[in-house]
Amino acid sequence: MKIPFFDIAAQYRALRPDIDAALRRVLESGSYSNATENLAFEQELATYLGVREVVAVNSGTDALLLSLKALGIGAGDEVIVPSFTFFATAEAVCLAGAKSRFADCGSTGFNIDLHSIERAYSAATKAVIAVHLYGHPVDLAPIQQFCAARNLHLIEDCAQALGASYRGQRVGTFGITGAFSFYPTKNLGACGDGGAIACADSKIAAHLRRLRNHGRISAHNHAEIGINSRLDEIQAAILRVKLPHLDRWNMQRRVLAQRYSSGLRDTRCGLPSDCDNGVGVFQHFVITHPQRDALAVFLARHDVETAIYYPTPCHLQAAFSNSSDLPALPWAQHSATQTLALPIYPELTDANVDHIVALVRAFEQA
Ligand SMILES: Cc1ncc(COP(=O)(O)O)c(C=O)c1O
Repeated sequence: MKIPFFDIAAQYRALRPDIDAALRRVLESGSYSNATENLAFEQELATYLGVREVVAVNSGTDALLLSLKALGIGAGDEVIVPSFTFFATAEAVCLAGAKSRFADCGSTGFNIDLHSIERAYSAATKAVIAVHLYGHPVDLAPIQQFCAARNLHLIEDCAQALGASYRGQRVGTFGITGAFSFYPTKNLGACGDGGAIACADSKIAAHLRRLRNHGRISAHNHAEIGINSRLDEIQAAILRVKLPHLDRWNMQRRVLAQRYSSGLRDTRCGLPSDCDNGVGVFQHFVITHPQRDALAVFLARHDVETAIYYPTPCHLQAAFSNSSDLPALPWAQHSATQTLALPIYPELTDANVDHIVALVRAFEQA
């Protein structure tokens, strides 16, 4: 049985008539940028999240970058980010002109750890970016308290976590902004790049709208330096077709995750779990295994694709090799050697999961 790591076109096949109709509607409208589909998508996503404003942008990276810029964070400022995340989290801080201060994950999960945030804090710290890694909500309450006590902004990186919730509220609505990605492999994936920023403050949202459109305040007037980060109408139209299916897809992911977890319970695999009061959406199903690399090779030999997120933590990336004060982050470094993502997507079958579980067991018995 050949099991790919993603099956990106499956959603298109399932929704073909609706997506084709949406594409035709946009193509025939002649409005391809920043028009009715964008507006409607922003409102629909805001309703889904339960937040006042959503600003659609071109990528999750831009959602982070523009969040930082709208908050006035730049040269001379520091932003605390987890090291164990996709590179874009730290990259956005540098693109804004500020400095990334790296924090570790905890011993019990892969999300950013409060004690490590405390160690990374300095007088120059202006914000903390909490990444809901793999779709698992960060335990936000203590981090919110930490930020409130020091007047720091909390930005949520929800690129992997659209639909996840914490204490009954969607992630992305706790911080001053929440940044989302619609990269095709995400739980809500466009057919190209896309992103969005959730925000309760209308003034910040207005600023974000200006920044994503060259700092423009009217046709030929630019109040500040912005960027071009508009979401294409075609992507917005496709995302509008998919959004009503997201909760069902996320539930299917959770059911598959549960099946993996029961199947792998008494093996040497470390299994993912949510923090108290967190309901995750399993953008990835990530186990740990002491023989991670050998297990990945074994599964590949049996036609099961896996992936490693992330083999190199951000603070050890070459791009940061000139930084003078990089901390030792033992848990991020340890996680990088242990984690293995198994296939998970709504179209994966129970039989696929059972097959992968049986292979992991066979590997351990060999
Ligand atoms: C945690 C995290 N942050 C940010 C991003 C950046 O999103 P994008 O690829 O849409 O720029 C990603 C994308 O994979 C991500 O996983």
